[in-house]
Amino acid sequence: MRVLIVGGDGYCGWPTALRLSARGHSVAIADNFSRRRIGRDLGIESLVPIFPLEDRVAAWHETGGEAIAYHDIDVAEQYAALVALISEQKPEAVIHFGEQRSVPYSMMSIEAGRYTIRNNLMSTTNILDALVQTETDAHVIHLGSIGVYGYETLGYEIPEGYQKVRHVDTNGELGPEHETLHPFNPVSKYHLSKALDHLGLAYYAAKHDLRITDLCQGTVWGAETDETRRDPRLANRFDYDPVYGTVLNRFALQAAMGEAISVYGTGDQTRAFIHLEDVLGCIDGAISSPPAVGDRVKVVNQITESMRIRDLAQLFAELSNSEIVHLVSPRSEPDGNELDARNQGMRDFGVSPTFISRENVSALIDFARRHADLADTKQLYPDT
Ligand SMILES: NC(=O)c1ccc[n+]([C@@H]2O[C@H](COP(=O)([O-])OP(=O)(O)OC[C@H]3O[C@@H](n4cnc5c(N)ncnc54)[C@H](O)[C@@H]3O)[C@@H](O)[C@H]2O)c1
Repeated sequence: MRVLIVGGDGYCGWPTALRLSARGHSVAIADNFSRRRIGRDLGIESLVPIFPLEDRVAAWHETGGEAIAYHDIDVAEQYAALVALISEQKPEAVIHFGEQRSVPYSMMSIEAGRYTIRNNLMSTTNILDALVQTETDAHVIHLGSIGVYGYETLGYEIPEGYQKVRHVDTNGELGPEHETLHPFNPVSKYHLSKALDHLGLAYYAAKHDLRITDLCQGTVWGAETDETRRDPRLANRFDYDPVYGTVLNRFALQAAMGEAISVYGTGDQTRAFIHLEDVLGCIDGAISSPPAVGDRVKVVNQITESMRIRDLAQLFAELSNSEIVHLVSPRSEPDGNELDARNQGMRDFGVSPTFISRENVSALIDFARRHADLADTKQLYPDT
């Protein structure tokens, strides 16, 4: 299948490009390298050095992979170039990772928030419009966030995208049951952009018959895949800083360095997680089972498990004999919450999940230990 991966230079996009290429798909990447630029501007770097995209794809080819095409396009701003690329490649699937994905970044300043909303909304809308304009029947797989439903305790299992409702009519009688998008409760401008994406996707599925899957992803953890291990030039990024670092990756490096495991606030926050390998499994499953033309957006909660941050920290502390410190939370979010979300879609994809087990966490700490001499300890604790 011809697959266009937007944001294919990023943490999830790069290993996806390699996996799909290894599976025999014809892969092209579009990326504007904004993630690398933001990192440079903020003075934060991936723990594992990542090579320029041209070196990455050359290394893939040299180590036996098929050629991967790549295009320096800002899909939010360069609509004509995107249309030209889609006309030329004629993708059968477009996987859209190309958004600004840091919650703290989106809340750093008015300008960073405006950029996040503009970039994320326009990248999604431009991709959808370009498919409509070029009459390309490609399955769009969009990466959303499970955080769009907020971090209040809901007291029920969050369904996959849609909830059943019955309206009360003017006589006070309950009307028939139907389904509607589950309400959103974004806690950041990043989550607001993802909630708005949902509406945009629903519109293009309904009005333009686009086939769309929306993967509402949890926080991703993990470092390597079989493909990224083939050559150091294929390495994936590993972010641990307070802006782009995800919590498990940061805890792993803190544990590897014998530094205190830093919990924001009480640690009673519950978050949903998924291992990078399972992200690839879900993408594979999504590609193989597209919705039909005319279907509503297929929403999948792309999460393996939910855990309290306090319990996670305890696990890392035990495995490394590190202390736990509770820092004043730099985030504006509830001190604690329960989070229960359905993940039937992911099971239907046949993904056999990688859990946050002692064994898997030890392997992650070992990985971080192998690269710990490159760590910048100033990046371990929040200043945002
Ligand atoms: N990593 C996570 O824990 C996580 C969790 C939930 C959802 N997601 C979502 O998954 C997707 C991928 O996340 P990631 O961790 O790989 O992020 P990332 O920042 O590592 O990768 C995103 C890539 O998209 C590119 N990009 C951004 N805007 C672009 C534009 N306008 N045009 C072209 N390229 C653009 C960036 O340069 C980067 O290479 C994002 O949409 C993110 O919101 C990620």
